[in-house]
Amino acid sequence: MTIRTPAAAARFALPAYERPAGVNPPFDYPPYRSTERRAPRQPLLVVPQRLTEVTGPLLGAERVLAADADLTTQHAGEPLGERIIVTGRVLDSGGRAVPGTLVEIWQANAAGRYRHQTDQHRAPLDPNFTGAGRCLTDSQGRYRFVTIKPGAYPWQNHHNAWRAQHIHFSLFGRAFTQRLVTQMFFPSDPLFSQDPIFSSIPEAARERVIARFDLDHTEPEWALAYTWDIVLRGHGAGVFEAGEHA
Ligand SMILES: [Fe+2]
Repeated sequence: MTIRTPAAAARFALPAYERPAGVNPPFDYPPYRSTERRAPRQPLLVVPQRLTEVTGPLLGAERVLAADADLTTQHAGEPLGERIIVTGRVLDSGGRAVPGTLVEIWQANAAGRYRHQTDQHRAPLDPNFTGAGRCLTDSQGRYRFVTIKPGAYPWQNHHNAWRAQHIHFSLFGRAFTQRLVTQMFFPSDPLFSQDPIFSSIPEAARERVIARFDLDHTEPEWALAYTWDIVLRGHGAGVFEAGEHA
């Protein structure tokens, strides 16, 4: 189908998502030093979601395998560290499940090191841990990963700067223009107070990025569990990033 005129194209544009007030970090947050260079100096442009974006080829759900959600079975042996289950639901503003969402995660290993050439932290790589996984939410909007609890790591933002333990999350909707990126933290982390990526989030919204320990989803003799629901917008919307973060 061809849309021949700008007016016709506009009729097919979906409404943009609103960024709720008081939830997301400011673009420029001086304690988080690299935001000074990263923060946009011009007003943001809304990328319209027109027919091409919404109906174009997307994920290829058949490429996402059940095994992709288990980060502990991607190599010949098991990775070192504390095995955990991370699960939750992707929900819309009305509390309804959002099925078919591609959820991708990436994280440091148990020693606090990423398998990435720019990470030169003096901590060991784990030959049995890549640190990346993905899955599609089911009909109830649920995702579930098996992984290793990531270690804290230093990141040179300021003297003796350490990131609180976290897992990076990316969510894709029904078009490549519908991508949201955020981080999940663990409860009661002693590093919260000196991690400016965490503290850049308005105080009232910080609990939205902290998973809760969930005894019901643990597996006896095998793994502890954390639950973290991700609300896409509206009241209770999650905290989402504007760019690349450590
Ligand atoms: Fe990170």
